[in-house]
Amino acid sequence: MHTAGGTGEGEAGSEDRTPKKKFSEVQKERREQAQRTVLIHCPNKISEKKFLKYLSQHGPISHHFFYESFGLYAVVEFCQKESVTSLQNVTRTPSMGTEAAIPFKSRFFNLKLKNPSSQTSEKSSIPCSNHSPPSSKKLSELLCYAESVDDQLNTLLKEFQLTEEDIKLRYLTCSLIEDLAAAYFQDCTVRPFGSSVNSFGKLGCDLDMFLDLDEIGKLNTSKTSGNFLMEFQVKNVPSERIATQKILSVIGECLDHFGPGCVGVQKILNARCPLVRFSHQASGFQCDLTTNNRIALKSSELLYMYGALDSRVRALVFSIRCWARAHSLTSSIPGSWITNFSLTMMVIFFLQRRSPPILPTLDYLKTLADAEDKCIIEGHNCTFIRDLNRIKPSGNTETLESLLKEFFEYFGNFAFNKNSINIRQGREQNKPECSPLHIQNPFETSLNISKNVNQSQLQKFVDLARESAWILSQEDKDRPSPSSNQPWGLAMLLQPSVVSSVSLAKKKRRKPASERIKNLLESIKSHSPENDTDTNGK
Ligand code: GTP
Ligand code: MG
Repeated sequence: MHTAGGTGEGEAGSEDRTPKKKFSEVQKERREQAQRTVLIHCPNKISEKKFLKYLSQHGPISHHFFYESFGLYAVVEFCQKESVTSLQNVTRTPSMGTEAAIPFKSRFFNLKLKNPSSQTSEKSSIPCSNHSPPSSKKLSELLCYAESVDDQLNTLLKEFQLTEEDIKLRYLTCSLIEDLAAAYFQDCTVRPFGSSVNSFGKLGCDLDMFLDLDEIGKLNTSKTSGNFLMEFQVKNVPSERIATQKILSVIGECLDHFGPGCVGVQKILNARCPLVRFSHQASGFQCDLTTNNRIALKSSELLYMYGALDSRVRALVFSIRCWARAHSLTSSIPGSWITNFSLTMMVIFFLQRRSPPILPTLDYLKTLADAEDKCIIEGHNCTFIRDLNRIKPSGNTETLESLLKEFFEYFGNFAFNKNSINIRQGREQNKPECSPLHIQNPFETSLNISKNVNQSQLQKFVDLARESAWILSQEDKDRPSPSSNQPWGLAMLLQPSVVSSVSLAKKKRRKPASERIKNLLESIKSHSPENDTDTNGK
């Protein structure tokens, strides 16, 4: 998304003046590209030149790349959609031995060589795009060699952000699922949302998609003149939730029985937000398919806007996400942990609280909206300005290093016991209910997006934030030389156990324990804006 959105990396937020695309424009463009794209499982030894020549018989190719995931795959984007049909017309259903094939025509193909020996003679190895994140060893090395903490945060962002190819593959996967769903619901759309599109996705993150049935049967008013009104004869069910469950149940069956490459299909229909979870083997994505999730798409758009407004936002969010993951504050398993979505909200809120603010409040973005931006979903006002270029950049010039330290200090001392985090107003509010962590859902304002978080997880977050703030403040005083190959700055914060690594490193420098504890206590005391910083009280 970063590439398509035109947000630069590394430069100070206010300097990037290239026009930025609207979220809806990016989505439309990517979706249209995906519709003229095919996915091909290739033999390992293949001549790229011959392969492209063969496919070009069906029309010009605008883009292609190869990647490895249990075999070699090619993503081929034709210039025209008709080329896909032309290719499908010369493709056959395989004849099986003892097994039987379900003859489903999709855009996911298997390429077989008629004469393998003639191809393998050409020993060109195919350049593959990589879409896995760096190993922790590689990341640690990169961070150690960085020039400054700011450089470390930007390096981490560059290493973990989704690549252009990974983004294309995400849109293609949604488009392939849409083809399946369209067999039942003509004109439906399967849209990616969440971190795949909000510009905060790390390589390897799940692919959230939703089946959008809202556009089906919607006519523009000019076509409805005359005395009659035609409606589709439909089946009614008692509630929206039951409709959602029925639709997802059928789509889940369909993915399981006919979906090429869709495995491990689980229907989780009794969840608050019913979903079908499956793994798309060829792309390697873990997918969550929901329906009727327009508000979540709007949240993704809002986060995309915040991510594009200032280049420091994404760098900070990525580092905080990695920090939280390194200390098991977040997990891929649902539970009482803080989610990445909540962490992102906390960073946005923190950046709204800077002086001068780095990010505007959601209420301010609403005041800038014009008639076309108006958006009401299920009775919730989700209106905000969508043209990024009309929002004035921040005059704040704080460095990433200082923001990272301040973030930890801010939340290490936040009065979670009485205050709620609210990005709509950009200031703390009294907590309306007693969940340990309260982050107001920006659009469904009576909901708490971190209701799942329990007291001990929150306390763990606070303790780690305090320690990290302290480490960064100590680091200022005695940073190891880059040649010593010792973790420092951000690399130090990502070490599996902060407590043990700190005490080890400090022991080496032979500071008395009493001094370490005194420093820690002072660092906590001097940055405590509230009288009561304990998270336990009600
Ligand atoms: P990762 O998958 O962890 O990289 O981040 P993500 O932002 O994609 O989070 P996740 O897959 O958990 O959820 C996908 C999207 O659903 C989020 O981006 C939000 O828009 C939305 N979402 C997730 N959790 C909540 C929640 O508790 N409340 C609301 N209202 N929306 C949520
Ligand atoms: Mg996700």
